[in-house]
Amino acid sequence: MRWIHAAGRGLLVLVVILTGYAASGVRADGGATGGRGPLTLATAGDLTGYLGPLLAGWNRAHPAEKVTLVELPDSADETRAQMATDLRDGDRHRFDVLNIDVNWTTEFAAAGWIRPLPRDRFPLGALLPPVVDTATYEGRLYAVPYVTNAGLLLYRKDVLAAEGVPPPRTWAELERYAEAIAPKHGLAGYAGQFLPYEGLTVNAAEAVYSAGGSILGDEGERVTVDSAAAREGVGFLARGVREGWIPRDALAYKEEESKQAFQDGRLLFLRNWPYAYVGASAEGSKVAGKVGAVPLPGPDGPGTSVLGGSNLAVGAHARHPDSAARLIAYLTSERVQRQVLTRGALPPVRADLYEDPELVAAFPYLPTLRESVLAAAPRPKSPRYDQVSLAVQAVVHDAMTGRQTPEAAVRRLARELAALSHR
Ligand code: GLC
Repeated sequence: MRWIHAAGRGLLVLVVILTGYAASGVRADGGATGGRGPLTLATAGDLTGYLGPLLAGWNRAHPAEKVTLVELPDSADETRAQMATDLRDGDRHRFDVLNIDVNWTTEFAAAGWIRPLPRDRFPLGALLPPVVDTATYEGRLYAVPYVTNAGLLLYRKDVLAAEGVPPPRTWAELERYAEAIAPKHGLAGYAGQFLPYEGLTVNAAEAVYSAGGSILGDEGERVTVDSAAAREGVGFLARGVREGWIPRDALAYKEEESKQAFQDGRLLFLRNWPYAYVGASAEGSKVAGKVGAVPLPGPDGPGTSVLGGSNLAVGAHARHPDSAARLIAYLTSERVQRQVLTRGALPPVRADLYEDPELVAAFPYLPTLRESVLAAAPRPKSPRYDQVSLAVQAVVHDAMTGRQTPEAAVRRLARELAALSHR
């Protein structure tokens, strides 16, 4: 009997070799044209324009493994859709290495669009712990953390100082200052990213988490959003628009538009990622020297930020997987991670950089940012994350535009999410 099993196994191995595919659907030979060669790197909009010059450095040193940068739109959702279409296209794909939003790892891995990676080729032990979890699916590494992120509240230091008040720690303080102080200085009160796209999901999740609520539990299996805390969180955002301390313009803001409003001196408070703090404080910004940043407020004290950032993944049909892994190792090396911060204004994933005296002197917010990242809450891990996010965006936008009360909106969201998890 034993030889039959052995023969069966031999046949399987033969089939794998002949077709060139392992059982997981990933090409077993590492790509028909070999492990090393040119690559494409697809990324969402490079808002600080640092990635091209950084890759030029790699290209000069590796002429046989040149990387072509493919820059996709600023909106996370549009980028995800373009990547998904490309990855589904198998052999006709254009993207080899993909800089994916942290919350897409589960979906892309579950769909077999990206390939598992060998842990020992990457400096995982040197990274902040929460970021490594975002790159893992069913115990395997499917991407390598590259950039992390946590939301901050930016405020106008000059205006609050003139009024003799400290930066807000609670929603009540934020609302009071946004309503009473901002108009006296010709400013709108508060904005975040409220256009219906991933940014709104982030802002809504932060409001819900800050109030002590959640959206999904048990790795996306259980719907937990129908709670007083979620109603309070959505209520906070809806009240802002209704009462006017969130300007209606903000309903169309993504990261860049909201940063521009703050940087042009039109806003008292802005929720955004650290890159906006760097941009608003830089030469050329109308509010340079007048910008402060604190953790996001919540109902009774500091609130909860969502964990943002991106991971580098290798497409299941990538042409040169060895070069892809070498490029990822380069982009997560200490030298390049420093440049991600100093040139890209993006939070690096390597833990030691947050304690580096030279960097802390140049970027004094690093220790606070490290705490925010460590305390940040991840978005739900779900193979249907894109649909979860679409439901959150649609429902919260309806609540913010007054089409539905926060109570009705949260009930509807619970129903929509339940329908998704039962399919
Ligand atoms: C930033 C974050 C990312 C998030 C996106 C939302 O790019 O790093 O995680 O999904 O903003 O707009």
